[in-house]
Amino acid sequence: MESQSSKTEYPVSSLIKKRRSKRAYLDKPVEQGKINSLFEAARWAPSSMNEQPWSYLYATKDQKELWNKLFDTLMEGNKIWVKDAPLLVLSLARKNFKKNDKTNTTAKYDLGGANAFLSLQATEMGLNVHQMGGFDAHQVRLDLNIPDEYEIGVIMAIGYPGDPDLLPENLKQREVAPRFRKIQDTFVMNESF
Ligand SMILES: Cc1cc2nc3c(=O)[nH]c(=O)nc-3n(C[C@H](O)[C@H](O)[C@H](O)COP(=O)(O)O)c2cc1C
Repeated sequence: MESQSSKTEYPVSSLIKKRRSKRAYLDKPVEQGKINSLFEAARWAPSSMNEQPWSYLYATKDQKELWNKLFDTLMEGNKIWVKDAPLLVLSLARKNFKKNDKTNTTAKYDLGGANAFLSLQATEMGLNVHQMGGFDAHQVRLDLNIPDEYEIGVIMAIGYPGDPDLLPENLKQREVAPRFRKIQDTFVMNESF
């Protein structure tokens, strides 16, 4: 039996179907109201003890210095296409609970959930979010003065989807290729492991 498929096996929300991590961006800024809605979606994500451990640092392309500080930390393979993204967002998770300073073991888990909410909100507003782990977390901490209390999450490149034909050939292919996922039989259990 095939263990991967490019088709949805069962019905899901159209936003889930539509979302994908694109790399081509239009030369068009993201409106401030839409930026606010992205973080509003993250705000309403669930979290352990309702701690809401996430923080976001964003830079629009017209904030040249700030945007470049984030951009400069990216790996070369990401820089090739992120150069056209009008909005960069660094996501952070507070390591300890505010009320007792004990370790919050689910802080990054909660941040991931908030980023997923943000991504689907973006999809609904016609925006593309591309999350990246490919950057120098040490450099980002230094260059943006991120305190030790925060774990570094991902950097997200956000903007309106652009023309894939303007990407380098290898990235262009990936932009339009079908996406594959493991089928449910390989990761969903209904008996002991
Ligand atoms: C934590 C995380 C780190 C990622 N890092 C990168 C990255 O550095 N560069 C990149 O091009 N894509 C990166 N991605 C995007 C994944 O490659 C992408 O989500 C995956 O291939 C599935 O494709 P889809 O999002 O279009 O469905 C990352 C995604 C996540 C969630």
